[in-house]
Amino acid sequence: MSEAISLHGGNLIYEGRRLGCRPDQLLDASASLVPFPMSKSLSRCLVKALREDVLHHYPDRDYLELRQAIAKWHQIDAAMVLPGNGAAELITWAARDASFQGLSSLPSPGFADYERALRCWQAAFRYESLPRVWSATRPQLFPLTPKSDVLWITNPHNPTGQLWSRESIKSCLPNYKLVICDEAFLPLVPCGEDESLVSLIANNSNLVVIRSLTKLFSLPGLRIGYAIGDPERLERWKNWRDPWPLNALAIAGGIYLMTNTPPVESWIQRVHRWVEKEGQWIYRNLDQLPGITPYPSAANFLLIEGDVSLLSINEQMAQKRILLRDCRSFVDLDERWLRISLQGRLDNRRIVNALGTCLSH
Ligand SMILES: Cc1ncc(COP(=O)(O)O)c(C=O)c1O
Repeated sequence: MSEAISLHGGNLIYEGRRLGCRPDQLLDASASLVPFPMSKSLSRCLVKALREDVLHHYPDRDYLELRQAIAKWHQIDAAMVLPGNGAAELITWAARDASFQGLSSLPSPGFADYERALRCWQAAFRYESLPRVWSATRPQLFPLTPKSDVLWITNPHNPTGQLWSRESIKSCLPNYKLVICDEAFLPLVPCGEDESLVSLIANNSNLVVIRSLTKLFSLPGLRIGYAIGDPERLERWKNWRDPWPLNALAIAGGIYLMTNTPPVESWIQRVHRWVEKEGQWIYRNLDQLPGITPYPSAANFLLIEGDVSLLSINEQMAQKRILLRDCRSFVDLDERWLRISLQGRLDNRRIVNALGTCLSH
């Protein structure tokens, strides 16, 4: 299978095959995940679920216990929660809903999966360029003026790392038939939850928030996300989809994570300290390198822009077994742009040193 310009990072199996190494020999800064290993207590919970033979039964179609755990976490009603097979599955149903409302606005550059999902339903969409203004420390005003029926927002934005202020998004809500806000990365951002739209949903039935456990807990393989929205809307989505989108292990893991408060709280604090410290460190050090400009970010990834194409630099990095995210799949970005996901200090140093070597040759 060819992988010319990938829509997603984290293609370790493909890259390992291409580069002649094992996937675990690659330093993956192309997918934006927390680099700490999965917590032992979560592994124990999954093993316990297997021992209890959860795979021997169909999962509860209503996901009641999981919905209640998520609802308690956000202090909302369980009827407002719909778990999904990762945020990606829920994006597909959000797009079907959007296709019935009219024209969708996709801020660009933005996450390519929204277009993928809209195309599934032949939905009308249009890209709208975001201003190239970055602030790492303060939430920014969400800039779009209403021109369409549906607005797709990513907060913090992928790939720029811009954090939008809750108040500025709130003021957009009356102007759209439907607003879909993807908060997949929000819980990783220090003080990010202050900008969450979840508390606005009860009074705004045209708003849906999509969240993911993938990024925060580094669990891309478990496939678990959820939508929060108007119960009638979510009931419609539930009736569109297949009967068991989440498997029994994802359910067990989700319940564990959303109810096991003390270890999870200290995990989240650790993640916030890491984003703050390593984000500043890597930005400062990338800023010293010739031929590139790093942009500040509130999230666990940041963009760099080259004076000229960075394609061959990216390939040289791959030969050194370091994967960065080629940004050509993002509308409005070209081969001068790469996205780098934060790692632990040793690996961040390795990335900066390797980039420095590649750029100075
Ligand atoms: C902004 C954004 N939303 C959602 C997703 C998908 O998350 P999940 O693994 O929960 O499907 C991604 C994955 O890269 C993402 O970048």
